[in-house]
This record gives sequence, C-alpha cells and structure tokens, in this order.
Amino acid sequence: MNMWVQYCIFCAMLFIGLRMNQSNAEKCDLFEGSWVPDSLYPLYNSISCPFIEREFNCQNNGRSDTLYLRYKWQPYACNLSRFDGHDFLQRLKGKSIMFVGDSLSRNQWQSLTCMLYTALPSIKYNVSRVGDVSTFTFTDFDVKVMLDRSVYLVDVVRESNGRILKLDSIESGKLWKGVDMLIFNTWHWWNRRGATQPWDYIQVGQQIYKDMDRVVAFGKALNTWATWVDTNIDPAKTNVFFQGISPSHYNGSTWDEPSAKSCVGQKEPVVGSTYPGGLPSALTVLKKVLGNIKNPVTLLDITNLSLLRKDGHPSIYGLGGRTGMDCSHWCLAGVPDTWNQILYSLILQTFRS
Ligand SMILES: *[C@@H]1O[C@H](CO)[C@@H](O)[C@H](O)[C@H]1NC(C)=O
Ligand SMILES: *[C@@H]1O[C@H](CO)[C@@H](O)[C@H](O)[C@H]1NC(C)=O
Ligand SMILES: *[C@@H]1O[C@H](CO)[C@@H](O)[C@H](O)[C@H]1NC(C)=O
Ligand SMILES: *[C@@H]1O[C@H](CO)[C@@H](O)[C@H](O)[C@H]1NC(C)=O
Repeated sequence: MNMWVQYCIFCAMLFIGLRMNQSNAEKCDLFEGSWVPDSLYPLYNSISCPFIEREFNCQNNGRSDTLYLRYKWQPYACNLSRFDGHDFLQRLKGKSIMFVGDSLSRNQWQSLTCMLYTALPSIKYNVSRVGDVSTFTFTDFDVKVMLDRSVYLVDVVRESNGRILKLDSIESGKLWKGVDMLIFNTWHWWNRRGATQPWDYIQVGQQIYKDMDRVVAFGKALNTWATWVDTNIDPAKTNVFFQGISPSHYNGSTWDEPSAKSCVGQKEPVVGSTYPGGLPSALTVLKKVLGNIKNPVTLLDITNLSLLRKDGHPSIYGLGGRTGMDCSHWCLAGVPDTWNQILYSLILQTFRS
C-alpha cells in the first residue's frame, strides 16, 4: 500500500473513532435519572463555607434532619463526574462566569462558590459588589464567579406614569458582554402580584398594558433575550447556558400527598423518576424559545430532577424563620450543588485543562 493510502485509512479510522466518542457522550442524558442515597454526600459541610448566606444555611437555622443532604443524582446512562474544584479553576483560569437572574441564580452562584472554596479551603478570594453585580474572585486563578441580579432579564424602567416592565428592551445586557460563560434564569417573578410586583405597566413596542397573561409575557421577554444572544454573543468566545425552571413545592397534591400544604417536614425525595404533578408550563415556553435561537445555548434542564426534591427547600429554616415558609429556594449544601455538578460535567466537554 502506498503511504498516502495508509495515511488516509488512519485518518478515516480516527474520524470514525472521534464520531463514535462524540455520539457516546451525546447518548448520555444527564437530566434523566433518579436520586439515590450516597454516603459521600453532601459535597461540603455548610459550616466550612464562611460566606454562606443565612437564607440558604438551613442546618445553621435549626433544621435537624440530615437525610436530604445524602442524595446523589444518578443519571440512567452514565455517572456524573465527581466535582473537582481545583480542576474547575484550572480549566477556567483567567476567565469569568456570570449567573444572571433572580434569587435562584444567587442560590446556584452561592452553591458554586461554596463548592470551589471548600475544595481548596486555603484559597484566596475577594467578594465585591458594584450595583447589581456581585463578583467573587478566586485571586490565585484569576477566576471570577459573578452574579447579576436581573429578575426579568428585560428592563423595568421608572417613567413619569409609573414603573414600566419593557418586554422588548434589554439594556441590562451591556453588563453581560465580554463574560466567558453566562448562565441565565428568570421565571419566579413573573407571577408576582400586589405589593411585591415591582412594576405598574407592561410595554410592548409602543403599546402599554395594565397587565397580561404572565406566561405570554414571559415568552415575549425570552424572545427579546434570545435576539440579544443572537446579536451580541460570539459563540467562539462565550458559552451560554439557561438554568431552566427551578420548581417550588407548596402544593402536596402535585406529589400525591394532598394533606401537605407546603414542603415543611418533607425529609425525602419523590421515589423514582416521574413527578406526579407534571412539568410547569413555563418550561414548555422556554424550550420553544431555545428551539428557535440561532446561537448555541445549553439548557441546564434541572426542572425535572429538582421537582423530585420536595425535601430540599428551607421551609421554616430560611430567611423568614418559623414565621416564613420558603419552598422556592434550596438549602445549601443541597440541590443546586447537583446543578453545578452537571454544569461541571458539561464544562469538561468544552474547556481543556
Ligand atoms: C458508574 O459507577 C459504578 C460504580 O461506582 C460502576 O459500577 C458503573 O460501571 C459506572 N457506570 C458507568 C456507565 O460508567
Ligand atoms: C477586592 O476587589 C475590590 C474590587 O475589585 C478591590 O478594590 C480590592 O482591592 C480587592 N481586594 C483584594 C484584597 O484583592
Ligand atoms: C394543587 O394541585 C392540584 C393538582 O395539580 C390542583 O388541582 C390544585 O388546584 C392545586 N391547588 C392549589 C391551591 O393550587
Ligand atoms: C421526568 O423525566 C423522567 C425520565 O427521567 C420521565 O420519565 C418523566 O416523565 C419526566 N417528567 C416528569 C414530570 O417527571
């Protein structure tokens, strides 16, 4: 055989090999699986994370059951990579990650900073805040883990006639440019009414509305966001993720326990892989928008796996204490650590060490 033919056969085999590897990785859906007890969990002890906010620090707020800390997410098709904080920082050396969204983004941001810090407890760090942007810097690696509080992603602007939620304006996007990895989220504020609703009118184009169907408004805002991503993001420079819809647990009927009026006292996840109450309609809207976006955006599809974790919320061990009832956020250590473990698994495929 002549050398060129040999070379070409080698190339073809290499090509097929790479393709097979790729399709194997594609075959493993990290979001389909179930929760299994694992004595190696939690990934860290909240006491060892000095900057953890009281809101998520359930054990410190008096929660005494610990079973909820000991579950691992087990995908059907493969094993999640073990979280390696040193490797994470090494891969992202000199880079910035930004979570953009509401307090569920803050929940995941805090989880990631705790996971990285407890992996390397002698590491130097610096936390600073400018406006709505909090920056947690791991100084030795020059890695910035940032949080931009932007509950609707689109703008809320104060004008002479009141506060306007502008579904087709996204000025705050200027803060997201130049970041190496963006993880967006919005949903929980779309259903707010009354005193905690931070706007008086909704604007679309030149039209002003007193109110509209909230899922429809959410969809319009997501389309504005998608256009922003397609216009402003260079996929060669920036990785874009969407956090998915983080579910709440205020209605026991949705997990076949009609007597439960909240998540208080829940000590274990739903068994198996299927949540009796089904998926939230907001997820359908989100998936439709992501289906039409031109730039690659990875959905961190955490809705289904988090629905199973009725036991993972602070309930009366959150910010409101005994008189509050938080079945929206998540205790730390806890469920968002798994979101970050999945994020890490996805990063392993993208960023070389
Ligand atoms: C997952 O890990 C278990 C034990 O830790 C091992 O037996 C199994 O083969 C692994 N599965 C895959 C798909 O790697
Ligand atoms: C922490 O960050 C702030 C804002 O960037 C900066 O002014 C300050 O010097 C930093 N502190 C340390 C110890 O690096
Ligand atoms: C609770 O969920 C059930 C089943 O999905 C539903 O029929 C019911 O209206 C819900 N209750 C409340 C108070 O939202
Ligand atoms: C969640 O995912 C499982 C597969 O992991 C699937 O069987 C189930 O129907 C999905 N939806 C809900 C609401 O659980």
